[in-house]
Amino acid sequence: MSFARQSTLALLYGHGENAREAARTTLGFPAVKHVAIYDKAGTLLLDKGEPIDWVPPPVPRLRADHGLAHETNSAWHFLAPVYESGQEENEESPFSLDRVEPKLIGYVHVVLDKSGLYATQRSIFFDNFTSAFIFAAILLFLLQWLTARVTRPLNDLALLMKEAEQGAVDVRSSLRGSKEMLNMSQAFNKMMSVLGERTTRLDHQNAALLREMEERNQAEQQLIRYRDHLQDMVDEQTRDLIEARDAALVAERAMSAFLANMSHELRTPLHGILSFASFGMRKLDRVSKEKLHQYFQEIHDSGSQLLRLLNDLLDLSKLRAGKMTYEYNKSDIFHTVHIVLNEFEGLLEEKNIEVVVNSMDVHKLIVFDENRVAQVIRNLVSNAVKFSPKNSLIEVEVSYMQDDSVSLSVSDQGVGIPEDELDSIFSPFAQSSKTQTNAGGTGLGLPICKEIIERGHHGWIRAENREEGGTRMTFNIPALEAA
Ligand SMILES: Nc1ncnc2c1ncn2[C@@H]1O[C@H](COP(=O)(O)OP(=O)(O)OP(=O)(O)O)[C@@H](O)[C@H]1O
Ligand SMILES: [Mg+2]
Repeated sequence: MSFARQSTLALLYGHGENAREAARTTLGFPAVKHVAIYDKAGTLLLDKGEPIDWVPPPVPRLRADHGLAHETNSAWHFLAPVYESGQEENEESPFSLDRVEPKLIGYVHVVLDKSGLYATQRSIFFDNFTSAFIFAAILLFLLQWLTARVTRPLNDLALLMKEAEQGAVDVRSSLRGSKEMLNMSQAFNKMMSVLGERTTRLDHQNAALLREMEERNQAEQQLIRYRDHLQDMVDEQTRDLIEARDAALVAERAMSAFLANMSHELRTPLHGILSFASFGMRKLDRVSKEKLHQYFQEIHDSGSQLLRLLNDLLDLSKLRAGKMTYEYNKSDIFHTVHIVLNEFEGLLEEKNIEVVVNSMDVHKLIVFDENRVAQVIRNLVSNAVKFSPKNSLIEVEVSYMQDDSVSLSVSDQGVGIPEDELDSIFSPFAQSSKTQTNAGGTGLGLPICKEIIERGHHGWIRAENREEGGTRMTFNIPALEAA
């Protein structure tokens, strides 16, 4: 408006230079980039400022009022009419009585640059955006902080729950914070305690169940084994029973035989003693001294036989009760053999039996109870003589073994022993089925030998039949330490 007023003079005189100063002043405003003045015929009187992208149309098409005439991308084009009266359009004095019609003398064209506005817009937008961004960032940070503050304890609790889910029962929460958190933490801990107790109880029950199952399994296995082996067990027990019955029968038979033998063995010497004693008494004055001596000899022999029998019985009971005492010494067993064989001289002569001792000229001193081993050799030789025919041969062999033990065997050419009785003849009162009737004896000799060798000297004794006929009785005594 001001530029339009200041252009009046230039338009009245038709000379643009009159408005040059006003144009410079107007261009001095920040957004004004171009000013121009047109007279009413449309002639350009003044044109100042930067080049423009729009030229106003010829004057008749201009509107008679001022305002925004056109808008381009970069500028607004304002056109304002200039009137001669010196009054502005529509401007009337309140004191004027006559209405004076203003006379249009030209136009001014002012171009306002949009770039400034755009810059301002951008600046405002940028400022707004920056502050909104900062505000949003602060809000976000605050939100995050608050969320973290609220969710951290929940996360911790969730982690504990996960541990609990994986089987840990001793996890406890120590959450601090709001009342709700504390309540939740306490509730969790209580739940875990109850869970822990239940788990322990369940573990115990489980272990007890497993034990019970294991026991049942074992019992079942045992039952299966029993079932599978029941027949075997029954057979075995039946066998045992049969063996026990047979053993009882054998023992009973042996006992009957023993009683029969014993009465025979007792009666024979007693009868001898009594007969020769009464002979002697009756014929005391009539018979010679030699005859009397013979009677006494018979009485003495029968007495000795009785004594030997009683000694055997006594020995066996002592040996069986483990009450027999031994006297171990270092001796030469050949010496013992010869002493025993001397005792049999008369009997051997009577049956014309020859005894050969195979010594191989080796003599060693070994540890044994001489009297007891002599008793063993005596019984073996006595049996050999008793069960051998006349004119036969008895061999006594002594062998020293590599393990320092000594073996002694007595072989004869007698009746032999049935194979299935080779063991049983070592039982008390047992006699082989081949010799029970005629040979005499009580069946105590070999059991006594067995006790002396096995218990008294930790050795062994056995009977075998020789291939060429007859029996071989062998015992072995290991090397013992001298007492
Ligand atoms: N050399 C042998 N030959 C054949 N049978 C034997 C021989 N030695 C032992 N026996 C058998 O073994 C049985 C038992 O012998 P053992 O010496 O124990 O008793 P015994 O000789 O009958 O009586 P005892 O020795 O008490 O006087 C004998 O009765 C006999 O049947
Ligand atoms: Mg005998």
